[in-house]
Amino acid sequence: MKTIELSSGDRFAALGLGTWKSAPGEVGAAVTSALEAGYRHVDCARIYGNEAEIGAALAASPVARDDLWITSKLWNTHHAPADVRPAVEQTLADLGVDHLDLYLVHWPVAMRKGAAVPLEAGDLIDLAELPLADTWAAMESLVDAGLCRNIGVSNFSAAKLEALCDGARIRPAMNQVELHPYLQQRGLLETCKSLGVAVTAYSPLGSRDRPAALAADAPVLLEDPAVAAIAERRGATPAQVLIAWALERGTAVIPKSVNPARIAENLAAADVSLDAADMAELAELDRELRYVDGSFWAVEGSSYTVESLWD
Ligand code: A2P
Repeated sequence: MKTIELSSGDRFAALGLGTWKSAPGEVGAAVTSALEAGYRHVDCARIYGNEAEIGAALAASPVARDDLWITSKLWNTHHAPADVRPAVEQTLADLGVDHLDLYLVHWPVAMRKGAAVPLEAGDLIDLAELPLADTWAAMESLVDAGLCRNIGVSNFSAAKLEALCDGARIRPAMNQVELHPYLQQRGLLETCKSLGVAVTAYSPLGSRDRPAALAADAPVLLEDPAVAAIAERRGATPAQVLIAWALERGTAVIPKSVNPARIAENLAAADVSLDAADMAELAELDRELRYVDGSFWAVEGSSYTVESLWD
């Protein structure tokens, strides 16, 4: 299994289990089955609404805490410095752990407490009023307090990441972003590399189970003919090719599944090798397609636009 090394020196399994969209009532069994299959990295977030059930599955597992890598994320409603520690404490309580391996600022978007999607303009807080740098300083104090071993961000553009690194006492260790052959983000990967920031690929399979409002008519990545042809050649499945592609590019990758057979299939992608010709073919598929395009934050009357999000 490939590993990712962070700036702190911490190292973890590059392939993890995604839990966005894993429904309560299903996610616990998914985590149990993933741990039994050999996963040791679980990607969580408060907003997924399923951390307590994940915590129960972790508690029931014989896998030792030290052998696990657990990531979670700070939701947009808790960017105010005073709200950051209570937010992580709630996540720690739900997950039943005393520290996180990695805690990410989920979006470069600040929301008022209690606001829920879909939003009105008044639910959003301008970043000039509540700067990401202030949220970041509160994230840094979580490392000082031993609650999080590493901190990072998610959905940050190169410009936002560079700005955050400039003023940071502790540099973000990770940027977790949407990455797959239809959205390869080579420029962002280069910037992350030059800043020493590791990258995690979310929605690596194209998130077919995403909410209906997101990129409704977009092409289905798992049905791409070029991916299917490579899968056939490699004796692998299309999902395995997509996961192997992410690993080959040196990113962590967190395919979501709640199905035990697919959970095992996805882990086995760690043993699928792609050669330079396969990678060149997959490189051709880039079409800058975001399944999670952030348009839900671009509320009229607020300062957020899709362009300013991905600046
Ligand atoms: P399920 O949870 O029923 O397995 P992403 O990780 O890009 O968000 O994609 C998740 C979607 O892909 C879910 O709909 C999930 O369904 C499905 N999925 C996960 N693994 C596989 C696989 N190996 N083959 C086909 N679909 C998969």
